[in-house]
Amino acid sequence: MEEFDKAQLTYTHKGLNLSLKPIKDIIEEHPTPFYLYSQKILEKNYKDFYNAAVANDMQTTVCFAVKSNNNKHVLKALAKLGAGADIVSGGELKAALKAGIPADKIVFSGVGKTKDEIKLGLKHDIKSFNVESIEELELINKLAQKMETKANVAFRLNPKVHAKTHKHISTGYKTHKFGILAEDIIKTAQDKKYWSHTNLVGISVHIGSQLTELDATKEAIINACKCANDLPHKLQFIDVGGGLGVNYHPTNTKAPKVHEYMQLVAEALSTYQHKVEVVFEPGRRIAASCGFFVTSVIRSKMSEDCRFLIVDGGMNDFVRPSLYDAYHEVLAGHDSGELIETDIVGPICETADCFATKRKLPLLKCKDFIVLADTGAYGHTMSSTYNMRKQASELFLTTRGKLKS
Ligand code: LLP
Repeated sequence: MEEFDKAQLTYTHKGLNLSLKPIKDIIEEHPTPFYLYSQKILEKNYKDFYNAAVANDMQTTVCFAVKSNNNKHVLKALAKLGAGADIVSGGELKAALKAGIPADKIVFSGVGKTKDEIKLGLKHDIKSFNVESIEELELINKLAQKMETKANVAFRLNPKVHAKTHKHISTGYKTHKFGILAEDIIKTAQDKKYWSHTNLVGISVHIGSQLTELDATKEAIINACKCANDLPHKLQFIDVGGGLGVNYHPTNTKAPKVHEYMQLVAEALSTYQHKVEVVFEPGRRIAASCGFFVTSVIRSKMSEDCRFLIVDGGMNDFVRPSLYDAYHEVLAGHDSGELIETDIVGPICETADCFATKRKLPLLKCKDFIVLADTGAYGHTMSSTYNMRKQASELFLTTRGKLKS
C-alpha cells in the first residue's frame, strides 16, 4: 500500500478504521465477507494517473479497465472525473454506459468479440473496436455495412516482446493469443476490401499486467509507433494499454512511480511522426489500492506447530493468492497483543484456498475480523459461487463517509 492509502487505515479503541470509519461498525450492519471500496483512494489514484499524463504533455483519455472492477459506484465516480472505459464484453459495455461513461470514450478489446457484442458496440458508435485478428475486422466491416454505419477500429499490435510478469498475465508475444503482427497489420491496412465500412483510427498495445519493470513496455510502444509510421494515414490515437503494476508487498516496492511511467510513455511515443491523442487502459493502478476485502474469523486450529486462522471468505471470493501466488497485506481487526505466525485460510475444500501463510498477527478469535489490502482490482470481478457459496457483497465508502451498497 502506498503512503496515502496507508494513512486511510488507522487503529483506535474501536479497532481498524478506514478513513476514520470503524470497520467493526460496518460489520454490525453488513455480514462478512464483503469488499469495501474507498472513493477517496480511488479518485486520488485516477487523478494522479491523469495529471501525470497531462504533466508530460500528453492529450489523453484514460479508459479504465472495467474487468478490474465493475462496481457501479466505482464506475460512476470515475465517469464523473472524465474517465473512459476499456471493455471486453457486452456486459461491460452496458455497465460502462449505465454508469455514465460516454460511448466515445469506450474502447473494446478482446480476441473473442461475438456478433451480438459487435452489434451493440456499433449501435452506440464506440470510440474504437481494438481488433485482435483480421477475421474480426472482416466481421466488423460486414456488420457495419448491414447496419449502414461505419465502425472505428484500432489494430491491436502483437509487439513480440516479453513482459516480465506472471506467465498467466503476459500477453505481448507471438505465442500469446492477443493482437496482430506488424506485417499483417500493414498488409491489411492497404487492402481496400476491409475498409468500406470501417475507419482506421488507432493502434493499441497491451503486453501484460502487474508490470514493475518497463523495458518491454517501452519496446512495445516503440514497435507500435514504428508500425503506425508505416500506415497509409495519420492515426487519431495510440493506445498504450494498461499494465502498470502496484506494490502489493510493503517492502518490495519495485512498481514504478506514475510519473516515471508517463515519462517513459511520452518518450517512446515521440518516435511516432505525428502528435496524437494517447489512450491508457489502466485497471489495477487505479482500483487495487482502493479495495479492502473484509472477512471474519470462524475459528482457529493448530496442527502441531502450524496455526490456521479459518475465515468466512474463500478463494471463490478472492482468487488472486490461489491463482497467481499473489501476496496481499493482511491487517488484523485489532492491534493488541503478541504477534503469532498464522496461515489464513478459507472454508473451501482445496488446499489452494489460502490467502496468506506465516503472517504475524495478534491472536484472533471467532467473530474478530481481518482485512486483505489492495483487493480493489481483480477481486470481486473474479469471484464465483464455487462450493455453492453466495458471492461477497460490495460496499462503497464515499468521500463524505456515507456507505453505499
Ligand atoms: N487492457 C487490456 C487489453 C487488458 O487485457 C488488461 C488486463 C488491461 C488493459 C488492464 O490491465 P491492468 O492495468 O489492470 O494491469 N486477473 C489478473 C490480471 C488480468 C489482466 C487482464 N488484462 C490479476 O489478478 O492479476
